[in-house]
Amino acid sequence: MRKAQALIAASFVTIIAIVSCSKSGTTGDVVTTSASVVTQFTQVRTTFGNRIDLTNLANYANQTRPPYITKDNTGANRITNAKATLGRVLFYDKNLSVNNSVSCGSCHRQQFAFGDTSVASPGVLGGFTSRHTMRLVNARFGAENKFFWDERAPSLEFQTTQPIQNFSEMGFSGTNGRPGISTLLTKLQGIGYYNELFQFVYGDINVTEARMQECLAQFIRSIQSFDSKYDVGRSASPNDGNPFPNFTASENNGKGLFIGRPTFNAQGVRIAGGAGCNQCHRAPEFDIDPNSRNNGVIGSIAGTTDLTVTRSPSLRDIVNPGGVNAPLMHSGVFRQLQNMIGHYNNVNVVAGNNNLDPRLANNGRGQHLNLSPQEVNDIIAFMRTLSGTSLYTDPKWSNPF
Ligand code: HEC
Ligand code: HEC
Repeated sequence: MRKAQALIAASFVTIIAIVSCSKSGTTGDVVTTSASVVTQFTQVRTTFGNRIDLTNLANYANQTRPPYITKDNTGANRITNAKATLGRVLFYDKNLSVNNSVSCGSCHRQQFAFGDTSVASPGVLGGFTSRHTMRLVNARFGAENKFFWDERAPSLEFQTTQPIQNFSEMGFSGTNGRPGISTLLTKLQGIGYYNELFQFVYGDINVTEARMQECLAQFIRSIQSFDSKYDVGRSASPNDGNPFPNFTASENNGKGLFIGRPTFNAQGVRIAGGAGCNQCHRAPEFDIDPNSRNNGVIGSIAGTTDLTVTRSPSLRDIVNPGGVNAPLMHSGVFRQLQNMIGHYNNVNVVAGNNNLDPRLANNGRGQHLNLSPQEVNDIIAFMRTLSGTSLYTDPKWSNPF
């Protein structure tokens, strides 16, 4: 008995010693390159095969991004390849739900820019989300540091373990007879590949909520998309105001309409200028203005009124290579870009909406952009230039199970 304990202790010391010896990486990341160490991570190899290679981690930490991208909400939790890799495993692991049926990736699907095609996404045990699933693209590159449609999460780290504790989504709510998150931590502690991954990343096998948040947030922040037609044009131009050499006339006109502010007459009808989109969805990140209030889409999936939605994901990758990443908005109310622009073309000031953004109203009236069919097409053509391709195909963001 004593001998066995001593042996176990000795082998732990060996693993820790080897892992800490290899802590030579430039980013403070635990870069383990010795093949002899990795042979010990047999559960990881058995479970993930060559989809996760601890001797040759995917690049999350040093991805290139264009020089004009300046907004960044990373804060102290800098991306490392090791933690983002663990974040990827957590993101796609159905063990994070009470009945092993739902992972983050069940709703946040790579082929739809990490959003979903259902208006309400199915969670555990017959549950459904009360709002439409948000796309997770360039979540890192925005000035707004609060998350969810209504910005109720004060940081991305805090956000990441909320779905786990949501009764309908992943079910570790600690309510109505369901276990809470401490039960999940114990559960993960008993899974071999997590022992190995936490050992690899942190130097010990302890699973904590804070570590899960750190790793999930790093994985999400790593999901970036800058290989769009817009980026090609923007790189070749001094700013967004100039026509882009690689754009069609329609795309350039759409860009001008997206960015330009409208001039209204006394009736709130646009008589000059653009459609004003950029006031809230700001190029080149196309992140939401932190001061935005609601945009007049105040329905909800349940059919009630929701005045609290003031955040939007980046408007990059609204379309995927095959079609629109629809439905759009928190209520999933629009399936076509035409309908979405139709909303902004004639904003209704609904009685009781005391949170409508004043930029969409004029003298108490909702804006009327009076867009011509050609102008609508031009804005759509421009929005289509904001999509990349690697987002949908890069294996480092795919399901490793
Ligand atoms: C059952 C579907 C479902 C699952 C599972 C799910 N999400 Fe979500 N996610 C949503 C919905 C719906 C929203 C928007 C909810 C709201 O705003 O009220 C959302 C919002 C988010 C956001 C906010 C994005 C932003 O820009 O503000 C992040 C980040 C996120 N989810 C990450 C995760 C992570 C991490 C997991 C797994 C631990 C996860 N989600 C599991 C449906 C889901
Ligand atoms: C006053 C700020 C504001 C202006 C101006 C504005 N938006 Fe929005 N936009 C928002 C907010 C807030 C949301 C989230 C609303 C919701 O889900 O109900 C949003 C959501 C969207 C969405 C859906 C995103 C998604 O992931 O589902 C699209 C697309 C969009 N806006 C495009 C536009 C276009 C095009 C224009 C110009 C014609 C525009 N917006 C003008 C604030 C604004």
